[in-house]
Parts: sequence; C-alpha cells; structure tokens
Amino acid sequence: MVETIVWTDAGVVMIDQRRLPAEEVYVTCRDYKEVAEAIRSMVIRGAPAIGVAAAMGVALGVLRGNAPFDEICDTLAATRPTAVNLFWAIGRMKKLYASLAGEPAGEVRLRLVEEAQRIRREDIAINEAMGRHGAALVPDGKTVLTHCNAGALATAGYGTALGVIRAAVAAGKKIDVFADETRPFLQGARLTAWELLQDGIPTTVITDNMAGHFLKSGRIGCVIVGADRIAANGDVANKIGTYSVAVLAKENEVPFYVAAPVSTLDLSLASGGQIPIEQRPASEVTHVFGVPVAAAGARVENPAFDVTPNRYVTAIITERGVARAPYEESLRRIVLG
Ligand code: MRU
Repeated sequence: MVETIVWTDAGVVMIDQRRLPAEEVYVTCRDYKEVAEAIRSMVIRGAPAIGVAAAMGVALGVLRGNAPFDEICDTLAATRPTAVNLFWAIGRMKKLYASLAGEPAGEVRLRLVEEAQRIRREDIAINEAMGRHGAALVPDGKTVLTHCNAGALATAGYGTALGVIRAAVAAGKKIDVFADETRPFLQGARLTAWELLQDGIPTTVITDNMAGHFLKSGRIGCVIVGADRIAANGDVANKIGTYSVAVLAKENEVPFYVAAPVSTLDLSLASGGQIPIEQRPASEVTHVFGVPVAAAGARVENPAFDVTPNRYVTAIITERGVARAPYEESLRRIVLG
C-alpha cells in the first residue's frame, strides 16, 4: 500500500498528490511552514490525512524551535477550514503540550513527535475497524459508486470509503467500483482509480454528470463516500458534488453510505449549515493542467465542499459501529462510547 505521509529524520515526507497518477514524487517538508503550504496547495489532502499532516507539522515546528507554539498551531489551522480532523489533530497536540508544562524541552519535543506518529498509526487501525463494520453493508456482485478520494491517499493508509470497499473485497465479495472523476481537482479519476487498480480492484472512471444515469440503471448496489465534517444531526460535508450523488441515490433507491472516523464528527455544530465551506482558487475551474477550458472573463465559483442533508444518508460507518437515523441520538452514543 502507498505511503501517504511518514515522519523521517529529514522531515515530514508526503507523496505529492497533485502529480499522481503521472508521477510518483515524494516531497520532504523540513519545517512547519512547509507542512502548512503542502496542506494548502493539496500536496496532501483528504480529511484524516491533513489531520496527520497538521500533527506532524506541530511536532516539526517544536522540534526545529523556530516559532512560538501558538504561532505554529495557528499557521497550520489556517490552511483549510472544512475538514474538522485538522482542528481535532491540532487540538490533541495542544492538549499534550499543555500537559507537559514544566518538563525539559527535550522531553517535550520527544513526546510531541511520538504523539504525531501515534495519530498516524491510530488512523490506519481506525480505517481497518471501519472496514470491518462496513463490509457487511456492501452488496455482493454489484458496483459501488464513490466520489472524490476517500482512500489510502486521503488517510494515513487503507482509507475510509475505500477501506470499506477493500474490506468487502477481502471478505470475498465480487465488486467493482465506479469512480466519479470529481472535477475540478480530479481526485476520483487520478487518485481513487490509481490506488484501487494497484490493489487489483476493477475500477471504471465516469465523469461526474454520468452518476445519475448509472444510478438509474440498477447496476449500482450502493454509494460509499467519505466526509470532511459531520454535524450532530448527521448532515455531511464532503467533496463538492456529493450532495448531487446523494439526491440521485435516494431517487433511485440506492443506499448512500458515509464512512468516517469519530474525529470527523463535530457535535458542536447542530446542523450542516454551520460548517465552513472552503472556497478555492478560480484557476482550478478555469484551467485543467494549465490549459484554459473556460471563456476568459467568465465569473467563477469554486466551493470545495457541499453539505448533504441527513435525510439522504442511509448510514454513517465509523470505527465504533454503524450509526443510523435519528443521528442526533446514534452519533452522540457513538461519541460518548
Ligand atoms: O479537497 P480534498 O481532496 O481534501 O477533499 C477530500 C474529500 O472530500 C474526501 O472525501 C474526505 O476528506 C474524506 S477522506 C477519507
């Protein structure tokens, strides 16, 4: 399985997801500002993966000792607003740092580096647990539709939505995957197809506007996507276009599943309307690999995420079990243990 992000003596090493699948290039971030820039510019992306990157960024900042702790945390927190895993991971590093007040500097550095590496290891184990809970929901002999990339590349490894697919395949189910290409950044065409094909899972790339056609065809057994933030009522923020897929799935009576770790649940927000939606540069819409595809002078909107209302969500798969409506109750039970 591909290494999305690893801690090394030289710094934080990440596979450059902007260049996949054409080139497998690794980037080494040598200080926390480089980690922040890697998150902002999508060298690394996907909610759990940017959480791991932020934790490693905090550890790297403290290790290099070239900025106050709060400045390191604030810089990393200012990179991308929607995925709550980023803030969850920084919060965990802050809590540990506070608990180490008065300890020798060397000990503080060591413990923060260990914590960041622990967050990475735990993320893989969490995804495997999610796979175990979700595999039973995947119908045998059918096609699974997914949107964006919620795979090994979007996490420390194994993936959330793609982890459920991997677990279903490991359990002997005969399934294939339809990957929405996911304009404008093409996470589906470039990343999901690349990593599933590496695992020998048959994958078909479709353009985003083909999803309705195939959902109506009876060929799709279920939809599985990841999430960037889930509100207390089960509204789900995920990659732009997820909402359209969810509505089309319900219209065609195809189950719509969301796979996400507990760190993606934000019970402080009552509903999805409160989730901040990142607006990304217009050039991602007007250009594809540097080639202009839109009329010069046209106005552009580029929201990176949308919110799917809970009524379209059949179930939310977490590492602690599967939550169903009413989500206010089921998600609270999952978080409280
Ligand atoms: O803009 P991105 O590529 O970071 O968006 C990623 C997604 O929307 C994923 O579906 C989500 O983070 C879940 S990843 C396990």
